[in-house]
Formats: sequence, C-alpha cells, structure tokens
Amino acid sequence: MSNSANASTSRAPAQQWSTRISFILAAAGAAVGLGNIWKFPYVAGENGGGAFVLVYLFCIALLGVPMLMAEVLIGRRGQQNPVNSMASLAREAGAKPAWKNVGRLGVVTGFLLLSFYVVVAGWALAYIPITATGTFVGLQPQEVGQMFDGHLQQPLPLIGWSTLVLLLTLGIVGRGVRKGLEKAANLLMPLLFVFLLILVGYASTTGHFGEAVEFMFKPDFDKLTASGVLIALGHAFFTLSIGGGAMMIYGSYLSPQVSIARTSILVAILDTAAALLAGLAIFPIVFAYGLEPGGGPGLIFVTLPIAFGQMPLGTLFGTLFFLMLSVAALTSAFSLIEPAIAWLTEKRLMSRFKASVLGGSGIWLLSLGTVFSFNIGADWTLAGKTFFESLDYLISGWMLPLGGLLMALFTAWVMKPEATAEELGGDSAAYRLWLVLIRFLVPVVIMVIFLQAIGVITL
Ligand code: PHE
Repeated sequence: MSNSANASTSRAPAQQWSTRISFILAAAGAAVGLGNIWKFPYVAGENGGGAFVLVYLFCIALLGVPMLMAEVLIGRRGQQNPVNSMASLAREAGAKPAWKNVGRLGVVTGFLLLSFYVVVAGWALAYIPITATGTFVGLQPQEVGQMFDGHLQQPLPLIGWSTLVLLLTLGIVGRGVRKGLEKAANLLMPLLFVFLLILVGYASTTGHFGEAVEFMFKPDFDKLTASGVLIALGHAFFTLSIGGGAMMIYGSYLSPQVSIARTSILVAILDTAAALLAGLAIFPIVFAYGLEPGGGPGLIFVTLPIAFGQMPLGTLFGTLFFLMLSVAALTSAFSLIEPAIAWLTEKRLMSRFKASVLGGSGIWLLSLGTVFSFNIGADWTLAGKTFFESLDYLISGWMLPLGGLLMALFTAWVMKPEATAEELGGDSAAYRLWLVLIRFLVPVVIMVIFLQAIGVITL
C-alpha cells in the first residue's frame, strides 16, 4: 500500500473516484477517442495493415503501458494538478523545482490538442443528423466526397458544431470529479463498447469479415516502412493519452489503495480492444464495397458513408456509428481540459465554473484557427502545413512524446526508487521490469524518434 501523503496531503473524497472501476472507465474514456476510431483504421490502412498492427501492439505493451503507469503514478503520489504534483514530487526527491514545467507542458499540450480535437469531434456530431436523415442513401461515391468537402468549406456551421462539443464538454467537466467525469464515464463507456460490438456484428453480415481479419492480423512485412514504424509508435502514445497531463490528473483522483499496474494494463487492453474492434467494424464494410483501406483521414467521413448509403439498414447503423464516434471523442475531450481546470481551481483558486468558462473561451478562440484552415485560411501555411496540420504535427509529433519522455525520466531517474516502488505495490519482479523499461527502453526509443525527426539519423 502506498502513502501518498509523503508528498502532499490527499484529496478530499469528493475529489476522488469512488471506485476503482470508475477510474478505469474514466481513464479508458480518455484513451478511447478519435485516435482509436478515426485515426487508427486509416493509419493502419495507409501502412499496409497486419505488420503495422503488430508493431503498434508491441509499442503499446512495451512502451505504452510502462509510460502510462509512470504518468498515473506521478498524479497519484502528487494528489494535485499536474503543475503542483510535479513540484511537490520534485521537492520530495530533492530535485530542481523546474520539473514543474513538465506539468505546465502537460496542461498546455492538453489545451492545444483540445482546440483541434473539438473541431474533428464536431464533424462526427454533425454527421449524426446528416446520416440519420438518409442523406447518403443512393448517393454516388463522388457526391459523398463532395459533401464532406462542402461541409469543411463553411466556417459558420463548423464553428457551431465545435462550439456544441465544447459546451457539452464543459457542462460535464464543470460538475466536478464525481458528479461530472465519473458519472459520464460510468454511463458512456459501457454504451460505447455496446455500440462497437453491435457495429462489428453488423459489419460481419457483409460477408467480407474474413478479408478484414486477414488485412488487420496477417503481417506482411514487405508493406512496412521505417516511417510506418514511427507512426505506429507515435500513435501508441497518442491513443493511450500519454504525455498530455490527462492521465496525471486522472491519477491524482485515484485512491492510494488501487494498484496502478493492474489498472493501467486494463486501460491499455480496453483502448487496444476499442481500436481493433473499430477496425473490425470498418474494414469489412470497406472491402465489401470495393473501397480503398488507405483512404486517409477521410476514410470514415467519406468511405464509410458511401457504404452506409448502399447497405441494408445503412442509415440506422451509420447514425449509430457517428453517435459512437462522438461519445468516444467527448470522453477524451473531458480529460484534455481537466488538467487546465484543476490547475486554475487549485493554483489560481477559481471556482470550477469560472475556470470552465475561462478555459473554454481560450479553447474556443484557438479552435477557430483549425476551423479556418479548412476554408478561408487554407493558404495560411507554415512550411507547407495549414494551421491544423502544424498544430497536429507539433502536438502529436513533439509535445506528447516530449511530455511522455520527461515524465518517464522523472519517475525513472529523479524520483527515489523507494517512492516509485511504494506507489507500484512494492519491490517485486514486475516492479523491476517496469524500472528497466522506463529507465532504458523508453528514453532510448523516444530519443531515436526525435533524432530521426530532426534528420540526424535515418531509419
Ligand atoms: N487518446 C485520445 C484519442 O485516442 C487522445 C488524447 C491524447 C486524449 C492525449 C488525452 C490526452 O483520441
């Protein structure tokens, strides 16, 4: 059993998850998001399927799980928002107070990420009524593509949808840990998995399920490139929500009795299951209608609606699909703003309501940059990238891995092994394995990604 009071005092019960399951569901809610349902299938499709999936699974198990444990551990022992938690653990370890900047980086990363996350989540929300009213029935593939392009061309409706996503997020997060985050996760997460299973069942009626299974699980290493390996790795961090302060703040609401190792493994399993199920729901439909699995970011907004427009009961199941995508995106959005809200309430002593309004307004303003990058601001580019592409690249390619690396280094080399062992249930063979992975494998692999990204080495 751990003694988090070493670093600071524990949170009041109203500021803690009431059960272990609630933490697992909330953390799985943070992890399962657009990354699993929108990004995973298209990057797996673009990178040839099976071999990519295998590398991704290895990255989750060997790097993702130990890093997730490290981030949750910092939060649980720190018992405060990411900035204060890092500061008090640095103090406990006799290290420089500057480590609190890692917490700041997390808060900022989550904040920036949410500014484009709400826009893509807004597309998902918009596609619920569009699909439900039978818009896609009988449309030609080209027309479906034009619809998506047309949707992106109009800033005002896009702003409306992303604002709605933001308001829903703030409405939940503003209610606090137990009444907001926990209640929503307990309701939405089981629902999400039920939806996913129903959709996999539906996809299996297309008669192309075997082809999809083969595409996803039969590795063909000729199709895997070095950049595919890096994408698999980066995506493993993104999908587990590592490095953005989300898991740290959720960890800070965790009671000292709960095993961090067991819960983190469970969260990783749920997240992986969601991604694989999403693939099994999407690829059979793609193959059944002779569509392209490497269709890029438009895969689920263009390719799938083409199929939904032709399949029996496609309107019903298509609506369910976008509903599921919206639910997944929302539960991740909660975790992206919570670090900032906790920081504003604990450090700046604001009320939760005021913090939500202030944080939400900032995100809303920033989200306009992403909205405009699809229409009136499409040519405001930096090194050939639009605002949205630059932000995505900066966050997914640099800020999340950097945050994750610094958190890993902090738990591995700065915190005393007695402290980390205490949080992880004592010095055991499993603890030693974690220590080896987090001390050596994780930093080496992330440094290699960075060196390759800045062109110092070529893989
Ligand atoms: N894991 C989320 C997804 O897969 C994204 C996310 C990243 C959420 C970092 C919180 C923090 O969509």
